[in-house]
This record gives sequence, structure tokens and C-alpha cells, in this order.
Amino acid sequence: MGNIKIIKSEKTVIEKVEWDNLRFGVFFSDHIYVSEYKDGNWDNGTIKPYGAMDLEPANCTLHYGQTIFEGLKAFPSVKGGVNIFRPEMNGKRMVNSAEAVCIPPYPVDSFVEAVKAIVTMDKQWIPKKRGESLYIRPFSFGTGNFLGVNASDKYNFIIILSPVASYYKEGLNPVKILVETDHVRAVRGGLGNAKTAANYAASMLAGLQAHKKGFSQVLWLDGVQRKYIDEVGAMNIMFVINDELVTPTLEKGNILPGVTRNTVIQLANEAGMKVTEREISIDEVMEAHKDGSLKEVFGTGTAAVISPVGLLQYKGKEMIINDMKIGKYAQKFYDTITGIQYGELEDKHGWNVHLDI
Ligand SMILES: Cc1ncc(COP(=O)(O)O)c(C=O)c1O
Repeated sequence: MGNIKIIKSEKTVIEKVEWDNLRFGVFFSDHIYVSEYKDGNWDNGTIKPYGAMDLEPANCTLHYGQTIFEGLKAFPSVKGGVNIFRPEMNGKRMVNSAEAVCIPPYPVDSFVEAVKAIVTMDKQWIPKKRGESLYIRPFSFGTGNFLGVNASDKYNFIIILSPVASYYKEGLNPVKILVETDHVRAVRGGLGNAKTAANYAASMLAGLQAHKKGFSQVLWLDGVQRKYIDEVGAMNIMFVINDELVTPTLEKGNILPGVTRNTVIQLANEAGMKVTEREISIDEVMEAHKDGSLKEVFGTGTAAVISPVGLLQYKGKEMIINDMKIGKYAQKFYDTITGIQYGELEDKHGWNVHLDI
């Protein structure tokens, strides 16, 4: 654990965990990792007991939202020990997010070391069942106390851990998605490709309204023409048109570069599938649905890995996709990625950081 200082918790709260009813983001492990930034440097980091933080009412982040986060998982491997899936990619994405909102980036190698250290420290919090995992939530925010729209001169980088249930109780489950036509999440030149709180705050009203109408999430269209597809609430989106995998390009800078998106693209390319990252309009999707070439739609993200979309609604028109059934590609990508994460399939790409703990 290098130079990381360790202050052990005197008590554990692990007995409070409802292992048969984990859900998402409800239980938090005994320790956190904290690194503080001041005078132009991040310190070596400390592992210390989880607990309330001191926050002054003038904390700049509460007012101006200078905060970013990440989300990744550690999986119990069938071969023993634990696999942390592609932490370096999350570390790199966090550097990009940091730059977007003027937070000093936390170095990627320190990020990976910190993740390994805190998972090792609280290894007894890693669920044992297939499908369950330890969710890792790194985040960083300004800790200065002042009013005024200026970047803070002090920051924290913190990691908390939460044992989480399998996203699917009984296998993959196709969801209903509403194509959002009133609200927008991101615009070119904005913060869309950064994992920063503002994007999630901006998405809540539309998400809530969609839930009330019976949809699980919204599909965002681009903020300028409201024509091209961006992404889903917390997932990237992919379309199988004939046998081609089409997904919105990262080039416009308004969608999050998902780790799962990148993983699926690599697997699809290796399987000889034609993969195209480009602009795709909602009209094109409607047309492909009409002429029968739209075979599958699915979301990709750390939480669900693959989330098949069974129904898309746009301007009152419903598109039923693949008879509301799980498509063969969605199933294949899901099986392959989870197989690698739980150590059942060979990790040819070196995506797992394995810890023998
Ligand atoms: C807005 C948004 N898009 C896409 C994703 C999927 O990214 P990943 O595959 O890295 O979890 C997430 C989840 O982190 C997200 O919040």
C-alpha cells in the first residue's frame, strides 16, 4: 500500500448489512480512502474510518458544484480473490472530468493504487454471490469555503465502497425508454463527457417525469438540433441495424465515454462484427424499425453491464424492439463481460486487476 497512512476503524458495521437484500448504494463499508489537495499537491492518502465529514455552510461545492465522480466494481472471482474491472480507464476518465470543471486531476496510478488499497482493506465487504459485487465510488470536490464563482484552492479525493446486488434478479430484463423531447442533458462544448454532478442534476426532472409514465429511463437527444441520439440516463446506447453495431460517436464531446461501451466495441470488433461510431438520428432509428432492419437496442454501463431496450417511445409513437425479448447480441455481450469479470472466462485483454485477497 505504499505510503498510504492507515487509521483502522475500532468497530465494524458489517453486521448491519442485509446480504440477502443488498440493493444499490445502501450499505457503506467501514473505511474510506482520502487524499487532500492543498498548496498545489495531492497528499499520499489515508485510509480511515467511514463517517460524517466536516462541511462549512460556505463550502464552495455546495454552491457551485465543482465535483466529479467515478463508478467501477470489484467482483468475487470463481478462482478465488477479486477482480477489479478496468480501473485504469476510470482513472483516466476522472482526469478528463477533473479538467472539465477545473479540479486538479488525481494521478491515474495513484487512483489505481488507492482503489486496490481500499478494496484490500475492506475485503470482507465483497459479496460472495455470482451477480453481486463491491461498487467502488471515487469522487473529488472543492473543499474551499467562500462565495464567488471561482475554482477552489483545496480539494478532496475520496473513495467509498458499497456492496451491491445483481442488477437483474432473474436474468436480463428488457426496459422501456422514453425519447426525451423537452429537456436536454448536454450541448456541444458543455460538460456532457464529464462525470460531474451537474449532468445528473440536469437529468432528474426528465427522469422523474418518465418514471411516472412507466418508463425506466430517458434517451437524450442532442441539445442543439434535438435530432441525434446521445445516451440514456446512466448508460451509453447501441443499436444493431441488420448485423451492424451502431453507437453515437464520442467526437461531439457530449456523451460519457463509457468503460462498458469501449469493452463492447472491442468484443464486437474481435467477433468480426461491423462497428460504426457515428451520429445516428432518431429518424434513422424509426426508419430502421419500420423496415425491419432494427434488430436490437441496448444500453451499456457498469451498473447493469447490458440493458436490452424492449420499447422506445418517441413523440407518442411506440417502437417495440425484438418483440420485447433479449437479443442474441445483448445476451452474448452480457455473458462474455460478466464471465470475464467473475473469472469464468479467460481475460485475454488484461482487463481485470486481480487481487489475491
Ligand atoms: C451518463 C452516463 N453515461 C454512460 C455511462 C456508462 O459508463 P460506464 O460503462 O463506464 O459505466 C454512465 C455510467 O457511469 C453514465 O452515468
